[in-house]
Amino acid sequence: MTYTIQGSIRFPGDKSIAHRALMIGAIAAGETTIDHLPDGGDIQTTIDVLAALGVNFEQTGTHMTVHGQGGFHWQTPTAPLALNNSGTTTRLLLGLLACPPSTILLTGDQSLSARPMERIAGPLRQMGTQIATTEGHLPIQIHPVANLHGAHIHLTVASAQVKSGILFAGLQADSETTVTGPVHTRDHTERLLAKAGANVVRQGLTVRIQPQTTPLQPLTIDLASDFSTAAFWIVLATLLPDSQLQLPSLSLNPTRTTLLDILARMGGDFQVVDFPRTDVAEPMGTLQVRQQSLQSTIVDATESARAIDELPLLALAATQAEGETVIQHIGELRVKESNRIAATETILQAAGAHIRQNGENWLITGPTPLNIPQHWPLIMPDHRMAMLQIATGLVAGAPVPTTVPNVVAVSYPELTYDLQKLVQFR
Ligand code: S3P
Repeated sequence: MTYTIQGSIRFPGDKSIAHRALMIGAIAAGETTIDHLPDGGDIQTTIDVLAALGVNFEQTGTHMTVHGQGGFHWQTPTAPLALNNSGTTTRLLLGLLACPPSTILLTGDQSLSARPMERIAGPLRQMGTQIATTEGHLPIQIHPVANLHGAHIHLTVASAQVKSGILFAGLQADSETTVTGPVHTRDHTERLLAKAGANVVRQGLTVRIQPQTTPLQPLTIDLASDFSTAAFWIVLATLLPDSQLQLPSLSLNPTRTTLLDILARMGGDFQVVDFPRTDVAEPMGTLQVRQQSLQSTIVDATESARAIDELPLLALAATQAEGETVIQHIGELRVKESNRIAATETILQAAGAHIRQNGENWLITGPTPLNIPQHWPLIMPDHRMAMLQIATGLVAGAPVPTTVPNVVAVSYPELTYDLQKLVQFR
């Protein structure tokens, strides 16, 4: 069977921006409103933990009002804070809770409890937070302290989550905090904090934040649709014959769209067909994607860090490109919701693709016609790996799934519906 992708679709709001909007709304003075709030499991986790800390929300469909507390006035939760599967909630929340009113215990599900937390706990300790991990992981206890001090933090990992946690702690410190990383990673926290009145500036790879002495201003946000969700469709529409797809109100923040830069270099056909606009702080526009044949490329460490969530889908695209694609510096994929290096290789190799690791790089040669096994159970209970498996099946011409694994709902509960809407027989 051959498919084509046809249509126009506005996805739910960006998950990464939504976490931050909810958290900044919680500490601002007054009502923050958020439109197009996504309804995935990770966002519900952020809402639930903030509610357990005393924040009030009113939600009607995808419209959310956050009743901000005008500071870091947390109520002591009556039970441990359950972070479920959400790494972003955990690392950002640790920064918000860097100076808690009483001892707080945070727990996660099995996958989250295997993920590294010293990368955020270490810098917070430098700022005076009393935080105890369980051998570098959740469960974590965080204890009250009299005050936090500013610090100059140098990160060795390129992590927007860690940077953001430190910036939230920096608002509560007694002097300037700077955070310097190896890559300018996604900058949603900086953009939204600046809009809310924080004194935060970027100079090259360093972000500087000043203590917040007056309450932050509430925000009115219409969330752009999620680029990482769109990536599933961008790759499929690039690969499947005659595809033509329009993605209105898509997040076009340059720190998120590196996948487009890479695919365009490989020959991909992308156009922003309306005048890009900026909602509050984030650029968005309508992206048009057309099928195009691809050539191999070399993806460097900076691009890998910025397109980290999209690398498995990029690897799928590379299996259909002419020549050898090299994706460098993939190590961080090992510590995501699953080991995405191993899972991606298992999925693509099962379909006949040529992908192998060479040190911290992937080498992928193509184009290779893909075939999937008749019975192909879920390879890894990780939302992005389940989506890679579905995308690989569609490129291989397997039947369009009528249901998708539950784990996809962590970020994209609407996928089953959208598959029926956008995938057509050719
Ligand atoms: C995210 C940052 C990235 C990304 C994750 C979301 C964020 O993680 O993989 O899905 O919202 O800040 P790291 O900061 O660990 O790279």
